[in-house]
Amino acid sequence: MDCKRILRYSPLAVLLLVTLVIAQSSDVLQPNYDVPSTSLKIFDIGKALTLGCNVTKDGEYELSWEKNGTNVSLLPELKDRFKILSAERKFIISRALDTDAGQYTCSVSELKVSKAFNVVANVVVKFESTEVGKTNIVEGEKLTLHCIAFGTEPKVYWLVGNTTYNASKDHIVLQEDDRGVENAKLIIDSITLNDYADYTCEARNNATDVTGKPAQVMMTVRVRGKYAALYVFVGIIVEVVVLCAIILICEKRRNKTEIEESDTDQSPDQRRRKSSRNYN
Ligand SMILES: *[C@@H]1O[C@H](CO)[C@@H](O)[C@H](O)[C@H]1NC(C)=O
Ligand SMILES: *[C@@H]1O[C@H](CO)[C@@H](O)[C@H](O)[C@H]1NC(C)=O
Ligand SMILES: *[C@@H]1O[C@H](CO)[C@@H](O)[C@H](O)[C@H]1NC(C)=O
Ligand SMILES: *[C@@H]1O[C@H](CO)[C@@H](O)[C@H](O)[C@H]1NC(C)=O
Ligand SMILES: *[C@@H]1O[C@H](CO)[C@@H](O)[C@H](O)[C@H]1NC(C)=O
Ligand SMILES: *[C@@H]1O[C@H](CO)[C@@H](O)[C@H](O)[C@H]1NC(C)=O
Repeated sequence: MDCKRILRYSPLAVLLLVTLVIAQSSDVLQPNYDVPSTSLKIFDIGKALTLGCNVTKDGEYELSWEKNGTNVSLLPELKDRFKILSAERKFIISRALDTDAGQYTCSVSELKVSKAFNVVANVVVKFESTEVGKTNIVEGEKLTLHCIAFGTEPKVYWLVGNTTYNASKDHIVLQEDDRGVENAKLIIDSITLNDYADYTCEARNNATDVTGKPAQVMMTVRVRGKYAALYVFVGIIVEVVVLCAIILICEKRRNKTEIEESDTDQSPDQRRRKSSRNYN
């Protein structure tokens, strides 16, 4: 009877034991995740990426660090760029690049335990350098704004005034750029005065979803009327004409007075000549 019961429940007991062992061994390593439920670790490009993996079991255990299944010491792209602090259980890249994102693991081979990190680079956006600040454009011209997004799998969208565009709509066309980022380019073929607005490029990814702050960069596009430039040109011409006229009139007047003056100047001479003639 007892034996039967034991036999009946033994698989369950084994299962319980196994799960207990797995649970215990998985607790041996304590990674410094930012979001434990998705094993997420985020970093800012250009800043330090620090992966920590505490070993809770007593003993002299050596941690090893791998990126995408390869010992980090063997990866050419990480050569001379990282350090491992064995005592502190840390792996550090002091100036991380967006290509440093990926799958990392820490493991202790003797204990057959390992933990994976899903490392994601925060998004950074900027306009192409030729488009910085405020832009001036004449009605009817083509507007092209290129928002360059760095980071892991950035999702780009635009705010024009108060309207959000995450795909082409009406006369606003959103295109993928040559880096393969969708919506990175905003194009308006023939701009109108109604397009005078603030253009904000925003981008998010798994990292900004944690921080709650999408990356963004803004630019004011000032659209001038087609004839505004012409008006300025005509204004200058009118100004020049008026100035010329004034100068001409003044010249004429001066010439007249000079003639008159020369007339009065001549008179004493004439008188002298006349008088000399009289003497003769
Ligand atoms: C790892 O250990 C250090 C020092 O004991 C501690 O400060 C840190 O919070 C631990 N990290 C984790 C993720 O448990
Ligand atoms: C990671 O490794 C897998 C298989 O080993 C490979 O298919 C994948 O391209 C690698 N990813 C990176 C980012 O190197
Ligand atoms: C990784 O490389 C380092 C340095 O070459 C070496 O000490 C370590 O044993 C290697 N770890 C594994 C798991 O191969
Ligand atoms: C945009 O929204 C802000 C605040 O929500 C509001 O003050 C502003 O008037 C709006 N602008 C336009 C053009 O709708
Ligand atoms: C685009 O924006 C609309 C409205 O904000 C939203 O419903 C939709 O899910 C977005 N599409 C994508 C692909 O993000
Ligand atoms: C981002 O999160 C989604 C949902 O959790 C996941 O499917 C995707 O693999 C993640 N991407 C990266 C690069 O971590």
